[in-house]
Amino acid sequence: MCGIVGFTGTQDAAPILLDGLKKLEYRGYDSAGIAVMDQKTISVNKVRGRIANLCEKTDNGSSVPGTTGIGHTRWATHGAPTEENAHPHLSNDGRFAIVHNGIIENYLALRDELIREGYQFQSETDTEVIVHLLERYYRGNVREALLKTANRLRGSYALGVICSEEPGKIYAVREASPLILGIGIDDNYFASDVTALVAHTRNVIYLEDGEFAELSQRSIRIFDCTGAEIHKKTTRILWDVQAAEKGGYPHFMLKEIMEQPGAVRATIAPRIKNGTVEFEELGALLPELPGIRKIIITACGSAYYAGCAGKYALEQLCHIPVEVALASELRYANPLTDEHTLLIVISQSGETADTIAALKECKSRGAKTLAIVNVVGSSVAKSADYTVYTWAGPEIAVATTKGYTTQVAVLYMLAICFADHLCQLGNDKEERLDTLLALPRLIQQAIDMNPSIPELAKKYHKSKALFFIGRNTDYASALEGALKMKEISYLHAEAYAAGELKHGTIALIDDHQPVIALCCNPSIMEKTLSNIVEVKSRGAEVLALTFRDNQKILPVADDLLFIPNVDALFSTAVEIVPLQLLAYYVAKENGCDIDKPKNLAKSVTVE
Ligand code: F6R
Repeated sequence: MCGIVGFTGTQDAAPILLDGLKKLEYRGYDSAGIAVMDQKTISVNKVRGRIANLCEKTDNGSSVPGTTGIGHTRWATHGAPTEENAHPHLSNDGRFAIVHNGIIENYLALRDELIREGYQFQSETDTEVIVHLLERYYRGNVREALLKTANRLRGSYALGVICSEEPGKIYAVREASPLILGIGIDDNYFASDVTALVAHTRNVIYLEDGEFAELSQRSIRIFDCTGAEIHKKTTRILWDVQAAEKGGYPHFMLKEIMEQPGAVRATIAPRIKNGTVEFEELGALLPELPGIRKIIITACGSAYYAGCAGKYALEQLCHIPVEVALASELRYANPLTDEHTLLIVISQSGETADTIAALKECKSRGAKTLAIVNVVGSSVAKSADYTVYTWAGPEIAVATTKGYTTQVAVLYMLAICFADHLCQLGNDKEERLDTLLALPRLIQQAIDMNPSIPELAKKYHKSKALFFIGRNTDYASALEGALKMKEISYLHAEAYAAGELKHGTIALIDDHQPVIALCCNPSIMEKTLSNIVEVKSRGAEVLALTFRDNQKILPVADDLLFIPNVDALFSTAVEIVPLQLLAYYVAKENGCDIDKPKNLAKSVTVE
């Protein structure tokens, strides 16, 4: 979604801001802009569409002199994606320019109030009230104006602010939307995402809700919500710049699919110690496990589907009932949680608004909370009682791949770890651990054993609809496989529990209707085979995904995808990989913008 950058230093700001905005493009946006301050003059440039248009408009920044500035990519919420609605917004007196991520919930009331006082609005955005409030409260002290303004706002905001009365200074304010300060040598930065900072500095400070910062070329000062100065620790970003670049691949998505063996290894290997799964992060939770009566997993989108896949291992190994709930539903469902409930929250970005709200709701009702998160220092990580990081590295493509597989891997590990602590693991403990450790190799094999996927994509890319079917763990994988197909190739794809077909959906099966049948779980293989025969006899074209030695599938499938043999309880992390590749190549055939699918954002920070 929206992205923010800010810079102050000795070099020209505009090229640095443009470069930072390019690093944030992956988050999804539909307009962009920068405001640069030269002495006491602020110049604003905004465009609809891509950063490339902004580069063209500003001659790659060279037409906008000044060493201090702020920039923004906007994903429209309030008001169409027009130049007027794009950020930065200026105050009527021209003194302030601001960029904003988040949503101001009380903006209509504030807007009426400001209009009554004579302020003129240039846009339809909720953001614009902020800049007029700053003008209204400014009496020669920007920090004071910021505090007074923040006190009037309800909702979420990360703000970047410049004021012509204070050349060389940029201000950053955070409430429920990420904002990170980057510490340079003769320059300082802020951004809503570390990917915009790592080319310049690895030393960062994470702002917390209610905090704001004043940055100049050589100093960073941070204040709490009362205006008192505070001191915060510096964090060093460990991943390198290449991790956020394509490294020779045509798309980030393909690179991230290929990175999965390494990402899953980084997630699993350090946690297998002394012949068991050890989560140092969960020290205080483990003794409480015997009191847990129910586990609820909550998340959105693919992270929710990761929960659907992990449920089977958790339930079967730990013997605790597991519910998987969409965070956007759970937050308003008056959830029945208490101190005997463990809520597991899953989020790659750690900033998904519904997921944060569901976490807070269940926590306030007594649940113990454990977050599975990729982005270090994110809101979900900070709000949960316990956090397990997935260590997938930066995920840039909007469609998650390695984020998802590493989430699933953590759920498998939690299942073994919890079961071990509850003394539920039997003689097969060693075998389970071996399977976990083998996952990176098995994922690599799943990539290598399907060279036919680009050709299959040519066959299926014109289909009007694709049905993904499977049972049990295969159904969980089908859900994610269908979502991948939909979001990047724009084909209509639906996942059905194979046993449900005959309760309605089979009416849609007609001649040449493609059905992608997942058969990687031997315990229900025969049942899925009968469902395949049912759709075949109504004319369907079946692309089956199964393990290599499965001879039974040969007579009923038209085309085949393979995975290596793997314990069905842990198979989703492997079987999703050919489905990700299929979606990728179908989208490529369809000429889609694979890394930035239309209408989607990487991090969904609004409800
Ligand atoms: C799909 C996808 C989304 C996310 C969802 C949750 O490829 O990436 O469905 O899984 O928006 O995002 P996080 O995991 O950041 O909470």
